Amino acid sequence: MTDQSKQDHVLIFDTTLRDGEQSPGATMTHDEKLEIARMLDEMGVDIIEAGFPIASEGDFEAVRDIAKQTENAVICGLARANFKDIDRCWEAVKHARRPRIHTFIGTSPLHREIPGLSKDEMAERIHDTVTHARNLCDNVQWSPMDATRTEEDYLCRVVEIAIKAGATTINIPDTVGYTAPRESAALIRMLLERVPGADEIVFATHCHNDLGMATANALAAVEAGARQIECTINGLGERAGNTALEEVVMALKVRNDILPYRTGIDTTKIMNISRRVAAVSGFPVQYNKAIVGKNAFAHESGIHQDGMLKNAETFEIMRPEDVGLSETNLVMGKHSGRAALRAKLKDLGYELADNQLNDVFVRFKALADRKKEIFEDDLIALMRDSTSDAEHDHIQVKFLRVICGTEAPQSADLILTIEGEDHQVTAQGDGPVDATFNAVKALFPHNAHLQLYQVHAVTEGTDAQATVSVRMEENGKIVTGQASDTDTVVASAKAYVNALNKLLVRRQKSAPGADVKGVSYKDVS
Ligand code: KIV
Ligand code: ZN
Repeated sequence: MTDQSKQDHVLIFDTTLRDGEQSPGATMTHDEKLEIARMLDEMGVDIIEAGFPIASEGDFEAVRDIAKQTENAVICGLARANFKDIDRCWEAVKHARRPRIHTFIGTSPLHREIPGLSKDEMAERIHDTVTHARNLCDNVQWSPMDATRTEEDYLCRVVEIAIKAGATTINIPDTVGYTAPRESAALIRMLLERVPGADEIVFATHCHNDLGMATANALAAVEAGARQIECTINGLGERAGNTALEEVVMALKVRNDILPYRTGIDTTKIMNISRRVAAVSGFPVQYNKAIVGKNAFAHESGIHQDGMLKNAETFEIMRPEDVGLSETNLVMGKHSGRAALRAKLKDLGYELADNQLNDVFVRFKALADRKKEIFEDDLIALMRDSTSDAEHDHIQVKFLRVICGTEAPQSADLILTIEGEDHQVTAQGDGPVDATFNAVKALFPHNAHLQLYQVHAVTEGTDAQATVSVRMEENGKIVTGQASDTDTVVASAKAYVNALNKLLVRRQKSAPGADVKGVSYKDVS
């Protein structure tokens, strides 16, 4: 009999591609999901939750292809508490070297009301579905959704049923981010003490960050005996997000004196994957975000800078290199060659085939002609645009000239290539961006609603590139487009068009018969 809670190894379960991608607007393409999964595998994540296979054909294919390509990590798919979901999940994960089925049902009073099941009926459902999953797969995880608001006696009862039915991991989700660290620890301790068979399985902690306590709650659960932390890169996830992988991993490393647990994560890979997830999800990392924010290792004040120069430990509890941040971020200029570009991109986590490198090199040279110094962040923006500007995009920006200044109205002269054909228009607006967006809308009429328009400077200086993020909503579907350019209005046009291209993909996916996107987590039948 193994008492999991006595071991010091904490499993890292990454759900960026499932719970993270569920965040409105964070949709990733198939190739982006595969790339993130490869990076997670390389950094030593123990379990990758690759998606929710029944949710759509696209989700199914992503989970299946990640299962096929992944070398080390366990590949997990999510399924609600019904046989159809579980079978579909198994069809996708069975290709993995080490597959896992993760099935769940909401057990709190509020969640029990939704399918209208009595306590006994739900208990029976749990027994049947976990047994079914276990008949397909040796590795089964079960979650009582909203566990932290479930009555303790009932929680003990259903956890015991799931263990007896063959679950090998029991995940305890704080679905609405309601719990506090003391309670998070007490809940795991209570389950370990009261549930027969609890010492034979792994308890996982799955925290949401609605009150900003997700990291603290996850660590408290580990101290109480949980041995799997569920988390996402950059804390991506619905509402305020999930526990951030980089925070729990670095907390366990830096404070190993009081948190004597280990993970298998190569922390030097943190920065690259953080940047990739920010780029592909369209969710930029806030500047003061712990570990991966732009300012996490920046020291502005005179006192701090002085102390840092004398001894870095004065104000730094971890070294930038520990999370993969290189000392100097100045990389190259217009004389840099192809080999140097390839090497730098490899450092940043991009391995390119020759034809991809040629394409990026042309863009790099064009940027270097306009911008004296090219920084790591410029290259990352360039890489993001190279993938989003792919030839298969339905709409592309071919030409843009804007007249702006103190004399209104401002106007935009725009050529878009739509399905291979050029279309031109001149439109006016209240400012150059408004004129440009009106021009796009005149050439490609649509009813999508612009929810967010945001501009960030990629680096410093007046020749810096601007990254523009545009979030749009159409019939409940939300997408985020991004693009960078040294010209803010060009970046805006490209970001808008990027969002429209993503909407077109979403429209195709949800066309009748294409898939069952939109399945509800609450629908267990
Ligand atoms: O937050 C949650 O309860 C979940 C479950 C599906 C595990 O993500
Ligand atoms: Zn969740």
